[in-house]
Amino acid sequence: MDFIDRLVFREEEIQKRVRDLGKEITSDYAALYGEGAEVRMVSVLKGGFIFLADLIRCVQLDVTVDFMAITSYGEAAASSGAVRIEQDLSMSIEDRFVLVVEDIIDTGLTLHYILRNLRSRNPRDLRVCTLLDREVRRIAPIDISYRGFEVGEEFLVGYGLDYRQKGRNLRNIYTVKTAG
Ligand code: PRP
Repeated sequence: MDFIDRLVFREEEIQKRVRDLGKEITSDYAALYGEGAEVRMVSVLKGGFIFLADLIRCVQLDVTVDFMAITSYGEAAASSGAVRIEQDLSMSIEDRFVLVVEDIIDTGLTLHYILRNLRSRNPRDLRVCTLLDREVRRIAPIDISYRGFEVGEEFLVGYGLDYRQKGRNLRNIYTVKTAG
């Protein structure tokens, strides 16, 4: 863990924000679609899995979960946002209320591609919830319905976010040491 630099969000602060987002999602969907609304929460592996696990326990509606894994086509193509679906959803989303849950939205290119793909499957409603929004780096516009925190350009690790695949298990979110 020698890559940890400065504390940005403490566990308690994250958990409070997650609880508030859960309440907001619960009341929005109940108001729009009724208390019996079933929300299909879709997480894009791997970064979002910790946030998803905490968030679903703060939502008082019928929740189902599904996962997608993607790989980008490499450095050159990364700027175009072209990604390949490595593992697809296990269930149809046709006529479902779909909420995509992300750990962080940066350029927005990944999600832009995913949303276009999901939209083509005719969900009844398609929204985005992200814990962290790095809007300063946005290239593709993304309509975010639920946002935990706005963050700057610094590279972050913890609570699902990795530094070279490590650090996802950290309870707080930290910046990463730039040297090394
Ligand atoms: C992160 C995050 C988003 C994506 C956002 O995933 O989970 O999926 O980057 O970046 P963008 O807005 O610039 O497209 P990452 O590629 O780090 O993989 P991981 O989820 O496995 O950590």
